[in-house]
Parts: sequence; C-alpha cells; structure tokens
Amino acid sequence: MKLIEVKDYQEMSQVAADYLLSKVKSSNQLTLGLATGGTPQGLYEALINDHKQNRTSYQHVSSFNLDEYIGLSGKHPNSYYHYMNDHLFKHIDIDSKNTHIPSGKAVDLEKECEAYDEKICLHGGIDLQILGIGSNGHIGFNEPGTSFDTNTHIVDLAQSTREANARYFDSMDEVPSQAITMGISSIMKSKEILLLVSGEAKQVAMKKLVEGEISEHFPASILNRHEHVTVIADKEALAMVKGLELLNR
Ligand code: GLP
Repeated sequence: MKLIEVKDYQEMSQVAADYLLSKVKSSNQLTLGLATGGTPQGLYEALINDHKQNRTSYQHVSSFNLDEYIGLSGKHPNSYYHYMNDHLFKHIDIDSKNTHIPSGKAVDLEKECEAYDEKICLHGGIDLQILGIGSNGHIGFNEPGTSFDTNTHIVDLAQSTREANARYFDSMDEVPSQAITMGISSIMKSKEILLLVSGEAKQVAMKKLVEGEISEHFPASILNRHEHVTVIADKEALAMVKGLELLNR
C-alpha cells in the first residue's frame, strides 16, 4: 500500500480528484468503481468544479457503484442512486447508460447480484475503484465477518453501520437493515484502488488497517494483499498510526 498523507479533508479530496482526473484524461475508455458516504463528497465536488472550469469529458467513462440499500427505490433521497445523481452524475457529461448501481428494489435480488458481477466483467473489470472505510473496517457494505471470497451479495447491516448512517435519515427506524454490495472478491479484482480516509472517527480503523493482521473480522485488511492500493489519508485519521513507514511498502 502506498500512502499519501495530506493535511485535511479538503486536501484529501483535491488530491483524489487530481489522481482520478489524470486517469480520465489519459485513457480512451475507463471503468470507475465509485463509493458513497460522506468521505467522497469532496472528491465529487472537486470533479464538478473541474468539469465547470475545464470541461473535462466523461463520455468515455463507465462507472459501477459499490452498493445500495435494499428496499429504497432510486427516487428515495437516501438511496445511493439518488446520491450519485445529486452529488456527481447530473453535473458532468457522463452518459447515464454507462453508470451502474445495483438495484435494491430488484424482485430477484440474487439474480441482481449475479448480473451485476457479470456486467462488471463484460466491461473488462474496474480500472480504478474509489473506496471509503467504515469505522468497523467495512468496505462497500462488507461488514466484519464477511468472507474474503464474496462476489456481489446481500448483507445484513451491522447496528454500528446503521447508527453511523442514521444521520442521513429522519429516524433510526428508517435506516434499512439490509444492502446489496459488491463483495470483497469483486473489489479485489479492481486493477487499482484508491482508499480515502479522513477524520478522527476513522483513527482506529486506520490503525488496524496499517498495524493489524489480515482478517475477515476487519474487511479492509484484505487491501494489504492488493498490488496497487493508494491510501490518501489526512493527519487526523493517521494520528494513532505508529508505523507509518509500514504503509509505503
Ligand atoms: C457507508 C458506505 C461505504 C462507506 C462507509 C463510510 O456505509 N456503504 O461505502 O465507505 O460507509 O462512510 P463515510 O464516508 O460516510 O464515513
């Protein structure tokens, strides 16, 4: 894993945007893996600003999102479908036909999972996957205990994850209890991964990622086995990490 240490959330977002934009500009065809949550919002804002100023085009870009809540339609303001349109897609020139998000309203959810992995495969896999990390080490919605062998699948959300995400809902009762997520194996097949980590709430997760062992109890630890991972983390997130040199290996 390679570490880029940055000052704060704003710098993390800009460095991530510059990284992603260099890929967008240098390729004729690019498949991105995209994440939701609070962490990538600044990255998406920076991409929108760049698009306004420099007209960087996304006509050759396809995207696959990591996950979606089960039971929420795309129209629901808290669905990740809605989030992606609102925070990125409607502001840039990406073709909506090329954006993919698993459906949490599919009648046959198992079939939806299989079809999602097949679609990623047909696109030749993900070139660059953007990831955030849950404070319990989840990536996508792969909660602790998820097998490293999983493809896209249905998950029961951990109570801590529901609580962390409750801030976007009117009440805790409205937070879905299940989600559809790309699996650990699907994520690990990405050619390259960019992990964004910011703030005090991620200090323990960051420490475990760098200093802990690779274990299904801490899903993000698997990233230590991927050949091309770049972590962009701010000072606050890194505050508890002692062996920073462990990262640039
Ligand atoms: C959410 C998402 C993840 C995200 C993580 C962290 O539940 N499913 O993809 O990376 O939790 O969220 P945040 O960036 O808001 O801290």
